Amino acid sequence: MNMIDPFGRTISYLRVSVTDRCDFRCTYCMAEDMAFLPKKDLLSLEELDRLCTVFIEKGVKRLRLTGGEPLVRKNIMHLVRQLSRHLDSGALEELTLTTNGSQLSRFAAELADCGVKRINVSLDTLDADKFHAITRWGYLGKVMAGIDAAQAAGLKVKLNAVALKDFNDVELPEMMRWAHGRGMDLTVIETMPMGEIDADRTDQYLPLSLLRASIERQFTLTDIPFKTGGPARYVQVAETGGKLGFITPMTHNFCESCNRVRLTCTGTLYMCLGQEDAADLRAPLRASEGNELVADAIDEAIGRKPKGHDFIIDRRTSRPSVSRHMSVTGG
Ligand code: GTP
Ligand code: 5AD
Ligand code: SF4
Repeated sequence: MNMIDPFGRTISYLRVSVTDRCDFRCTYCMAEDMAFLPKKDLLSLEELDRLCTVFIEKGVKRLRLTGGEPLVRKNIMHLVRQLSRHLDSGALEELTLTTNGSQLSRFAAELADCGVKRINVSLDTLDADKFHAITRWGYLGKVMAGIDAAQAAGLKVKLNAVALKDFNDVELPEMMRWAHGRGMDLTVIETMPMGEIDADRTDQYLPLSLLRASIERQFTLTDIPFKTGGPARYVQVAETGGKLGFITPMTHNFCESCNRVRLTCTGTLYMCLGQEDAADLRAPLRASEGNELVADAIDEAIGRKPKGHDFIIDRRTSRPSVSRHMSVTGG
């Protein structure tokens, strides 16, 4: 009983935002003064586990925990440990997470012990002062220590950098060399207009074709069919031996092959990152001890997964395309 949407796409990837809170406030992601979801509306870890289990029974093979910052949710390792039983049974092929790295020193070994094989760490600059500025108050050293701990624990680390004009554009080729030198692939991302921030996104936005052209002046890039289940299109870099991924929702979207839906920490299911439409799974979850009502609500939601997103970054439309921030759905 696989989940297939109206456009024939099989949904096999669930992203679960376990909290919308974060210990950083990246300027392209959040406003400094953010209203977070009320704590009373949060699903318990047991409820999140129950929902994830229904999705796995319905054909989800890859599950990614996101935030906000997933590792700031209290007792998060309890959920990871619980979910790892689906790896043991073979029902789930991958359990992973996207993190800002700040708490990895503490959790890396336990994540590896739970069967997590690879993680994505968000890192936009290697300059400590710039890092402090972009995160508003984060310390690069802490993230570096987290990356070290993850690699020491045997986790494969991929770095994610949002490409930001006049911030990290000139630095990204060097950052790629550094990442590849440490055995990490790097993915660069076009900024998406989600939620009000304290800046004009048109000032930050960098189409990745421009970045690629500038990297190609120094490196030899070859398109490769490598896929991880995510939306990145990869190139192999001859000089470094590593892979560079491009996530281009704005200039070359990948909606046609979308395989995912997103669950928030309040039990809201978003069928598309770039649309407002959502389904409430909390009410059917709590209405009965059995899972039939939730399963029906999921089927109904998948039945209205839209064809794609409507993101626009344009000086004439200063409003974000969707009002919620990236931190609600964790990308
Ligand atoms: P891999 O499994 O490693 O390929 O992960 P991923 O790239 O799917 O996940 P990650 O959390 O690293 O996401 C990287 C970026 O891709 C984030 O900025 C996400 O917002 C963005 N992203 C992931 N999935 C989608 C999607 O379906 N649509 C859009 N527009 N962006 C996405
Ligand atoms: N556009 C693109 N990526 C974003 N991220 C956060 N906000 C945005 C945005 N508006 C990234 C983070 C992280 C991932 C989950 O999403 O840097 O890598
Ligand atoms: Fe936190 Fe990630 Fe958003 Fe930065 S991008 S504020 S690390 S959720």
